[in-house]
Amino acid sequence: MTNKQIRQKYGKYVLPNYSKTGIAFVRGSGSWLWDADGNKYLDFFPGWGVNGLGHCHPKVVSAIREQAGRLLHVANNYDHPWQADLAEKISKASFGGLVYFCNSGAEAIESAIKLARRWGNAEGRYEVIAMKNSFHGRTLAAVTATGQDKYHEGFAPLVDGFSHVPFNDLEAVRGAITAKTAAILVEPIQGEGGIHAATPEFMKGLRNLCDQRRLLLILDEVQTGMGRTGKMFCYQHYGIQPDVMTLAKSLGGGVPIGAMVADRKLNNVLVPGTHATTFGGGALVTRAGLAVFDVIRKGKLVQRAARMGDYLKKRLERMAGKYLVIHEIRGKGLMVGVELAHPGKEIVAECLKRKLLINCTQEKVLRIMPALTVTSSELDQGLEILEGVLAVT
Ligand SMILES: Cc1ncc(COP(=O)(O)O)c(C=O)c1O
Repeated sequence: MTNKQIRQKYGKYVLPNYSKTGIAFVRGSGSWLWDADGNKYLDFFPGWGVNGLGHCHPKVVSAIREQAGRLLHVANNYDHPWQADLAEKISKASFGGLVYFCNSGAEAIESAIKLARRWGNAEGRYEVIAMKNSFHGRTLAAVTATGQDKYHEGFAPLVDGFSHVPFNDLEAVRGAITAKTAAILVEPIQGEGGIHAATPEFMKGLRNLCDQRRLLLILDEVQTGMGRTGKMFCYQHYGIQPDVMTLAKSLGGGVPIGAMVADRKLNNVLVPGTHATTFGGGALVTRAGLAVFDVIRKGKLVQRAARMGDYLKKRLERMAGKYLVIHEIRGKGLMVGVELAHPGKEIVAECLKRKLLINCTQEKVLRIMPALTVTSSELDQGLEILEGVLAVT
């Protein structure tokens, strides 16, 4: 089938809830993708952050192949070694908490919200303070937590018990705390919101506030986690620890898996019967997650993300000196935003024509998040394409 034929079939049978490019991919390897018409693309936004190790990393693929022939899934009233092993890896790489597995970022957020509510329940505390301009997913509670009106439109009534305050404004958070507040929810770097990092003062201030007022600090690391920002988890840039952390996207190297990590003091909140998901922590996806951890450790990919991110930012800054359309370059590691003076939609479309995949968020912010395995020569190739596009738009 060609790109066009595949598109036509989508038109007939798939619910049209995504905006589309008309391109259908049929194969991927590292930072490269091939479409159904045989064109080759350089991918600087692989799977919206899912393919952190690039497409079809051979170690992840062989772990999945081996696991598929052994055991795919067992129900969660039984144990299996891979869930236990992956929980151990996540816990030891972060703050020593306990892990709950689910299947997506939104579900990880749902779990964190339910955990906070059950934790605060006896004292009548259930409110969550979230940030304006945030993004936490599309289930009803996650979308309510998301601090952007455009994602709320048409879904009223939303879930009770959420308020939104400006990001990086500690006084606003302090002012929003009520007797019913249970938790504060924040992305260490707002991704969909345009690559805005929390300031060190804000993160440290939130930690202190949570300690003083006995609130849970929930960090959403769905996009920033697993080495992306040059630390295994982004909070590690800030010298603080959350009470709860959410993960998904690149945790499975391409397969659907989400996780919530909760401090051990919360170990008796989500007891049997309170929360569950049938697929959560299945053998196949946790085995894939174990392979991801292994590849990151052996390839020193966290340090590599920091190094490659510096290279990428330096090259972009040089470009900013030449093209006035570039307003600002932001981000940490390989999570980079390029704020433009005008909307970036056409630039993304033109890059795609020239076989480079990037993203634009918040109208004017180009989002560049290459695989942690990207090489400097691949970065050069992609940036040459971007520069060529900036020169004519
Ligand atoms: C920070 C953050 N949280 C949550 C989500 C939702 O994840 P999912 O799309 O897997 O439900 C996303 C998705 O982009 C995200 O960036």
